[in-house]
Amino acid sequence: MTESAPVDPTSTDGWKKLAGIADGFTPDLRGWFDSDPGRAERYTFQAADLTVDLSKGLVDDDILAALLQVAKDAGVAERFQAMLAGEHINVTEDRAVLHTALRRPEGIEPALVVDGQDVDADVHATLDKVYVFAEKVRSGEWTGVSGKRIETVVNIGIGGSDLGPVMVYEALKPYVQAGLEARFVSNIDPADIYEKTADLDPETTLFIVASKTFGTLETLTNARLARQWLWAELGLTDASDDEKSNAVAKHFVAVSTALDKVAAFGIDPENAFGFWDWVGGRYSVDSAIGTSVVIAIGKENWQQFLAGFHAIDEHVRTTPLEQNVPVLMGLLNVWYTNFLGAQSHAVLPYTQYLHRFAAYLQQLTMESNGKRVRWDGTPVTTDTGEVFWGEPGTNGQHAFYQLIHQGTRLIPADFITVAKPARPLKDESGDGKAVQPGQDVHALFLANFFAQTKALAFGKTADEVRAEGTTDEGIVAARTFTGNKPSTSILAPELTPSVLGQLIALYEHIVFTEGTIWGIDSFDQWGVELGKQLALQIAPAVDGDQDALASQDSSTMALIAKYLELRGE
Ligand code: F6P
Repeated sequence: MTESAPVDPTSTDGWKKLAGIADGFTPDLRGWFDSDPGRAERYTFQAADLTVDLSKGLVDDDILAALLQVAKDAGVAERFQAMLAGEHINVTEDRAVLHTALRRPEGIEPALVVDGQDVDADVHATLDKVYVFAEKVRSGEWTGVSGKRIETVVNIGIGGSDLGPVMVYEALKPYVQAGLEARFVSNIDPADIYEKTADLDPETTLFIVASKTFGTLETLTNARLARQWLWAELGLTDASDDEKSNAVAKHFVAVSTALDKVAAFGIDPENAFGFWDWVGGRYSVDSAIGTSVVIAIGKENWQQFLAGFHAIDEHVRTTPLEQNVPVLMGLLNVWYTNFLGAQSHAVLPYTQYLHRFAAYLQQLTMESNGKRVRWDGTPVTTDTGEVFWGEPGTNGQHAFYQLIHQGTRLIPADFITVAKPARPLKDESGDGKAVQPGQDVHALFLANFFAQTKALAFGKTADEVRAEGTTDEGIVAARTFTGNKPSTSILAPELTPSVLGQLIALYEHIVFTEGTIWGIDSFDQWGVELGKQLALQIAPAVDGDQDALASQDSSTMALIAKYLELRGE
């Protein structure tokens, strides 16, 4: 353990000030904006290409000052430097936490050497290997057993070995090479692999088995099912071992830190791309775990993606806390969670290409900060880990925004959008009323973005409702919006690979800031272990082993018995 004992944030002066402010706190965004014409400008910050407007948050200068004091007392900046330097801040696994090294450009002096390893050299050697392989697939030099070029790449992985690649692939669809497609199999429900392979041509399909540990039940089961599918579809089920392994060699590659296990599965280590135990699964999208995406979008775009992450890493490293966007956003989250009672946090991208972003963030944020003990094993001293969730706008507007606007819960929301659409379209006809002929549809889309953040902040008073002609007071109440619902607006020029990297790094460092304040190890995930162990223990019972069934608690036993009955077994 190299980390010193965490600071108890509740004992700091900043925290005490915040507690005082929170006592009887009555936000007044209308009043704050009216009395302070500089508010929007003062609370709008820039990090690389991201313009971040915090002014519609429930924050004023006193709150911000106290939050910054907490950050200083908790040593956020110092711990960030410790992370960059490779200190073992993942205490419970005694590991460095170096996802930031995955995007360090080549040639930075001095080289990053951690635990005796030249990390920069390792990272770039692997990247080069991935680039060479990806180019072979993209150019058609790499072929399947029958000599046909690869048209579909199927990534098999789960958690961090799935959510990142699938999110990035979806986000960067406009950059995908024509004639190439990626698919993603994660769930051990056999329906997933069945549906994803049902219409595929085995001769043009390449599987990438992505697993940091190469020991994950779901991924290895799906990898075996994929191999079985390949052999069956190629007519090799009864073929010789040589023919079968030849097919595997041409249609399977792997990404893992456990190259010995990759070889045991039958994948040539030459066709395996490594990474390191200092990359957490949910922080691995910019490692070789992204190989499926590199194949789809190519080396130059991937380099831009990495450059985007690095730009935000540099922003965090070099910017004073007062202007440091991920730190400020993390601190605001602490304010909402620990002082204003928020339990969840909505992420609402106004770009369809980010439709998997909230799902990706769920693992990044909740597997990282869903902890009840601190890095020294002592209980946390305050609530941790909000529930992150969301859907793209405007879909969410027609689903759950009602509760954000008029419900009783406080749900801070991040609105994310880009100015230049990848697919600009005009509605040439319009409807002649709300939508004029020739309307730019993206502008209409963004009008919704601006309208929602405005409605959340400023609401609609009873007098405004009455002024519109509503006379029944019951209905006036139902049509009133209190406002003072906090949101952050994040704008970028365009959803380029770089901007996407910036957005991901932004949230990585928000998570880091919150985790540091709370004194928790945001880089382990012991909470997922018990369920995994029990699944293995229960599996024989579900498969009909009576002794295993008899050893279960009465509820589990009855549920399994019912399952077997429903299956007719
Ligand atoms: O769910 C736990 C977890 O360990 C995640 O942290 C990880 O991203 C996922 O499983 C997949 O792990 P692996 O890449 O080792 O298969």
